[in-house]
Amino acid sequence: MKIYGKSMRTIWVADDSWGVEIIDQTKLPFEVTTRTLRSWQEAATAIRDMVVRGAPLIGATGAYGLALAMREDSSNENLERAYTALLATRPTAVNLRWGLDDLKGRLLKVAPSERMGLAYRRAAEICDEDVETCKAIGRHGLAIIRELWEKKGKPPRFNVLTHCNAGWLACIDWGTALAPIYMAFEAGIPIHVWVDETRPRNQGASLTAFELGQHGVDHTVIADNQGGHLMQHGLVDMAIVGTDRTTATGDVCNKIGTYLKALAAHDNGVPFYVGLPFTTIDWTLEDGIRQIPIEERDARELSHITGRTADGRLETVDILPKGSPALNYGFDVTPARLVTGLITERGVADASREGLLKLYPEQTAK
Ligand code: MRU
Repeated sequence: MKIYGKSMRTIWVADDSWGVEIIDQTKLPFEVTTRTLRSWQEAATAIRDMVVRGAPLIGATGAYGLALAMREDSSNENLERAYTALLATRPTAVNLRWGLDDLKGRLLKVAPSERMGLAYRRAAEICDEDVETCKAIGRHGLAIIRELWEKKGKPPRFNVLTHCNAGWLACIDWGTALAPIYMAFEAGIPIHVWVDETRPRNQGASLTAFELGQHGVDHTVIADNQGGHLMQHGLVDMAIVGTDRTTATGDVCNKIGTYLKALAAHDNGVPFYVGLPFTTIDWTLEDGIRQIPIEERDARELSHITGRTADGRLETVDILPKGSPALNYGFDVTPARLVTGLITERGVADASREGLLKLYPEQTAK
């Protein structure tokens, strides 16, 4: 995808061939700055502080974090230390664990002297594979959008609602929920996106709106609580969101507030789809509400807000009365029964164990 006309991914190896460059997402949409990570500790901090965020991207950053660790010291002890610390940075998105496990498993099979090269090669492959996976999700999602648009008699505006940011900034390129939207736009379908602002960190307002704007996709930012009203008035043709962890039974954990959108969509007969790569499926879990660890973040994310002043400075101000406590859960779980379909790289599955196993039959034996 492009930022101000320049093709970019969200993570890549720097010109010195070992530092890991990322877009600083805490500065968007106001400043497009990159940062170079030079140690696994810096990678861990970038994930924890959400300089990089989004399930697939934190998986890739975790893998590069291990590569940085292997450059410094390729012993088993250092591998274990970096693995444990990186894994602890964000508990909900299972892609982080997937990326770390994939790489650690491979590294343990080779001699320490081979580990650094292998780690950088595999981390780069994880990124390339994610791009292909997202493109495939985009193609399957495009078929759904086209079908719904045609069924409605090809209206001049097809309204899709999305929550948080599951676009290319959350992945390496393309995105999960947004890949079908980009492909529909490219295919000439007159798509318009309702972008939930996504309090408290505003990933919708600051990242999704930025991405869509850079790509020229028609969109409108709405307050999080507006979706139900728009649905009641026939102004939402479908909803597509991403996910940070999906159980083997099709329960979907995504940014806080997703569940309320799914409830409103169900009540109003609006199709509610989820875009996800295989790396987001946690085959060990059955019950999303009881089993998925939900990240609780600093209440300061809720009590303070950052914006740009008239003279161009970024400023953070508080918005709560002094002494009022705040609670900040980052994710919620949408039960499978509220999900119309899971759009994966292998096709569209029913949100159920049977539906997922039809697409991933190799999981049956496990
Ligand atoms: O807290 P964030 O910004 O990392 O949360 C991101 C989301 O909730 C996305 O919807 C999710 O990671 C899917 S990414 C393609």
